[in-house]
Amino acid sequence: MTRVANEQWRSKITTAEEAASIIKNGMNVGVSGFTGSGYPKAVPVALAAQIKEAHDRGEEFKVGIFTGASTAPELDGALSEVSGMSLRMPYQSDPVMRNRINDGTTVYVDAHLSHSGPQVWAGHYGKMDVAVIELTKITEDGRLIPSSSIGNNVSWIEAADKVILEVNAWQSEGLEGMHDIWYGVALPPDRTPIPINSAGQRIGQQYYDIPFEKVAAIVETDSPDRNTPFKPLDDDSKKIAGYYLEFLTNEVAKGRLPKNLLPLQSGVGNIANAVLSGLLNSDFENLTSYTEVIQDGMVDLIDAGKLVAASATAFSLSPDYANKMNDNAAEYAKTIVLRQQDISNHPEPIRRLGVLACNGLIEADIYGNVNSTHIMGSKMQNGIGGSGDFTRNAYISAFVTPSTAKGGAISAIVPMVSHHDHTEHDTHVIVTEQGLADLRGLGPQQRAKVIIENCAHPDFKPILQDYFERSVKSANSQHTPHILREALDFHIRFLETGSMKP
Ligand code: COA
Repeated sequence: MTRVANEQWRSKITTAEEAASIIKNGMNVGVSGFTGSGYPKAVPVALAAQIKEAHDRGEEFKVGIFTGASTAPELDGALSEVSGMSLRMPYQSDPVMRNRINDGTTVYVDAHLSHSGPQVWAGHYGKMDVAVIELTKITEDGRLIPSSSIGNNVSWIEAADKVILEVNAWQSEGLEGMHDIWYGVALPPDRTPIPINSAGQRIGQQYYDIPFEKVAAIVETDSPDRNTPFKPLDDDSKKIAGYYLEFLTNEVAKGRLPKNLLPLQSGVGNIANAVLSGLLNSDFENLTSYTEVIQDGMVDLIDAGKLVAASATAFSLSPDYANKMNDNAAEYAKTIVLRQQDISNHPEPIRRLGVLACNGLIEADIYGNVNSTHIMGSKMQNGIGGSGDFTRNAYISAFVTPSTAKGGAISAIVPMVSHHDHTEHDTHVIVTEQGLADLRGLGPQQRAKVIIENCAHPDFKPILQDYFERSVKSANSQHTPHILREALDFHIRFLETGSMKP
């Protein structure tokens, strides 16, 4: 049965190829999609084919692509394969896309997720020509029900001249009622307070408002989201999760956190998921979450009755959990709220609620500065995503990481980060499988001692200690001692020999 139940809207149904042909060389296109959920499945593939044909004819054809966050092979992958993107904003994690960014084919603007929509509204990228947005259904009375992510959809719909809708029958009809769209977002000076006082509070409506005449085409699809399985939990992830949960338990014992903690934010990836698994086996009850993505571990916590409210902008589930969500979405909608990303990641509710942030990193330095995005200072990995939105504004900002990478050849703790995303001022806690460094209330030299002692791998601890001690004794020993000539020696050694070890 069709998911476009309204007669008037049905008149707009066409093929993906027809819809894609609306998009021309040089246009800016805002698409739905966040961590592999809720992205359009058919129009980008058709667009990539049309771009390839144009390139084969020797014609220029590139577009600017604006998303919520990472998408999937049918979008970032397909458009990068044909070198079809002049610009990409914000977060991505596709391997082909990453190559295009790093070889200079595509300009990548790695904006904070909460800033990305407002920056487009403000006109920093020129005009938004077309928005391509996935829906779950159009109801008989013409309501447009979002799918498995909201991301920047409201911003793109508002900013674009024309809208193409993909209505995906794979998405569960039970999602209706899970979304919370707040049409109060504005640019200064017209901003008003966001009235969110608890993680699960609903402040808006359950469907998008899109003027009928703005919709240029509707395409029907029936395709799954990109749902990637999590790796089985390894010992290091379990240890990291264990240290972090022990820290939270102690904070409760000291009376610094309530018994049910504060709303949890959990970054993407396996370690974050291990923390959620650890919570499942803990004594914590009545937990809440104010985060970006709903992961497998959160679904388990909801099933166990331990997580009573979860706010996010998208799902990031493994295939089994995506099926479970699809089968039981109406039930999960009692606990989960999906919001637009300029609300899920907005500093105001994050600060007001006192979120406990927990994110991954690529490397941290001995003073607590963090690199989340660049390999060896130059190569873009994914992007900053929402890590800055949460880290800067959380009540406690933790970073979790294995202490080494590349089979032990790289230390995640270095004298000086080779690229800088989060400053020492925002890093409260660092956790590796070696231990936890609580940096709150410490000056730079005190932080260095704790980070090296508690977090560095034994293979690197002596050379980090040596660097720090010589920096303290050096001619440049001031508030934050460094021997600048040596500060990036770890990285240089890796680039020259394949290992940071001397
Ligand atoms: N130096 C060089 N390379 C490193 C490294 C280091 N210190 N640490 C990791 N890497 C490499 C890994 O070897 C791996 O390379 P490969 O793909 O060639 O195997 C790659 O970086 C990814 O590492 P991995 O351990 O698989 O990372 P992850 O899945 O735990 O993700 C981040 C870590 C930092 C990349 C990820 O958390 C991220 O993108 N963060 C920024 C956005 C964010 O925090 N979002 C959540 C906010 S809500």
